[in-house]
Amino acid sequence: MKTLFIGSDHAGFDLKEKLLVFLSGKFADVRVVDCGCPDLQSVDYPVIAEKVSHEVAQDPEAVGILICGTGIGMSIAANKMSGIRAANVWNEETAKLSRAHNNANVLCLGARTLTGPESQLIVTAWLNTPFSGGRHLNRVNLISQMEGKK
Ligand code: RB5
Repeated sequence: MKTLFIGSDHAGFDLKEKLLVFLSGKFADVRVVDCGCPDLQSVDYPVIAEKVSHEVAQDPEAVGILICGTGIGMSIAANKMSGIRAANVWNEETAKLSRAHNNANVLCLGARTLTGPESQLIVTAWLNTPFSGGRHLNRVNLISQMEGKK
């Protein structure tokens, strides 16, 4: 069983709550952990991005979902953390490719740019797509070697 850590800022709170309902019981091999925020009160998205990314970076099996208004701030913040490959995707195709080609371990979503049903399709595609490996493995390893560089 793998653990999915999910977090949002205030802009993503409603979508996070909807996805928590959608995810519950839908993926038998996934345990979902809510990392906040707990309500609509304003919260700085990097704080939540760091919390989820820290958890995902500890466990090679773990994955994360981060939601803000656009997914942009969350992805920029999460990708500062070692071991994190966060992808801000906008449809099923980019969701699948972020797993197959980039081995993304954090999915970023924009609550102001995606509908609930679109987000459900994206999450399902993302969780069901494995990393292809092969020629993509060397590229992902090259990304890892960039961590901490200026
Ligand atoms: C919050 O208003 C908004 O800036 C944030 O959710 C996110 O979209 C940032 O990238």
